Amino acid sequence: MKNILVTGATGFIGSHTSVELLENGYNVIGIDNLYNSYKDVLLKIEKITKKSIKFYEGDILDYTLLKKIFKENRIDCVIHFAALKAVGESVEKPMEYYYNNVSGTLNVLNCMKEFDCKNFIYSSSATVYDKDNSIPYLENYKKSATSPYGYTKIMIEQVLNDIYVADNDFSCVMLRYFNPIGAHKSALIGENPKGIPNNLMPYICDVAMSKRKFLNVFGNDYDTIDGTGVRDYVHVVDVAKGHVEAMKYVLVSRGNIGINLGTGKGTSVLELVKCFEKVSGKKINFKICPRRDGDIGEFYADTNKAKEILGWESKFDIEDMCLDSWNYIRFNT
Ligand code: NAD
Ligand code: UD1
Repeated sequence: MKNILVTGATGFIGSHTSVELLENGYNVIGIDNLYNSYKDVLLKIEKITKKSIKFYEGDILDYTLLKKIFKENRIDCVIHFAALKAVGESVEKPMEYYYNNVSGTLNVLNCMKEFDCKNFIYSSSATVYDKDNSIPYLENYKKSATSPYGYTKIMIEQVLNDIYVADNDFSCVMLRYFNPIGAHKSALIGENPKGIPNNLMPYICDVAMSKRKFLNVFGNDYDTIDGTGVRDYVHVVDVAKGHVEAMKYVLVSRGNIGINLGTGKGTSVLELVKCFEKVSGKKINFKICPRRDGDIGEFYADTNKAKEILGWESKFDIEDMCLDSWNYIRFNT
């Protein structure tokens, strides 16, 4: 049985991926410092899968702990989620973001080298694409960033390319997620950010739960179907399944490759709000506000590479995503 080390295992995407890995017969070894997640996620994963993660509570910046994990477990592949992910906060606290996301990842890669583990899956993001690229976004498009968070992703993608150039036995897939939302069907795990949500779906959920009075819609003057921003929302369970396919792929191949995980379809802010209202029966009040700094009108993924290389495509639609997000939030907050 293969042993997979999942960093950020109790986080939003890490927890769903751990479930898929356990259900597909892999052993999951997890590490998380619980900065943006809760320990009870482990019990919920157990409830869903009837299996457990071997969990280490701690920080990827702690090299002694990483060594302990690699000594105690023969790791076949690392799936690396652990990172800070709030774009706006990264502008205010660049050092925290570079230290955690870049130094943290270098620590993990260094430990892998020390223990001769050469299989790696990296959580990258659609944020690495230059905003002037035409849509849909293709993997070979020009890269650029507008925030320290975005730069941490571009920097690590470069590091991974360089590692492969120096060692052709290295095997890596850099998964570039578009906008993961939704939750597991059990409603036991989902997205539960600490503090004020930055992203659209968690904010809509807060309004539905009467935690906030209305949603601020950032701009209705874009050149899109209704003037509001269009994004490629993808169900987190689809994203998790994409990791299982990527992991099977890295275990039998060599190289470093960037692959989009999205649906290839765009949905506007108001379309998402309308769909959420339909499945939840809740009214989502909103106010139109000025555009958010750094936002662009519309982007979505070209998904052909994921299909061709990983045999992966998304299965869930926007209604599934809204319903599963809603069910998770109403049963867990
Ligand atoms: P999340 O915050 O829910 O999960 C990340 C987990 O990593 C958290 O549980 C956090 O406590 C942990 N963590 C952070 N720093 C750590 C450290 N130094 N040591 C140990 N644990 C640490 O975020 P997520 O949405 O699950 O995102 C996972 C990855 O995917 C991140 O790398 C993120 O940048 C990337 N990503 C996410 C999205 C998205 O919309 N969710 C989109 C693109 C890329
Ligand atoms: C954001 C990040 C991006 C990251 C992605 C996934 C920014 C500028 N970009 O992308 O780097 O990879 O999350 O984590 O933060 N919206 C509202 N009101 C809100 C929140 C959002 O109208 O309260 C709108 C936005 O303007 C956008 C859409 O909803 O049009 C989606 O926003 P969001 O969920 O933050 O994702 P992205 O902007 O795509």
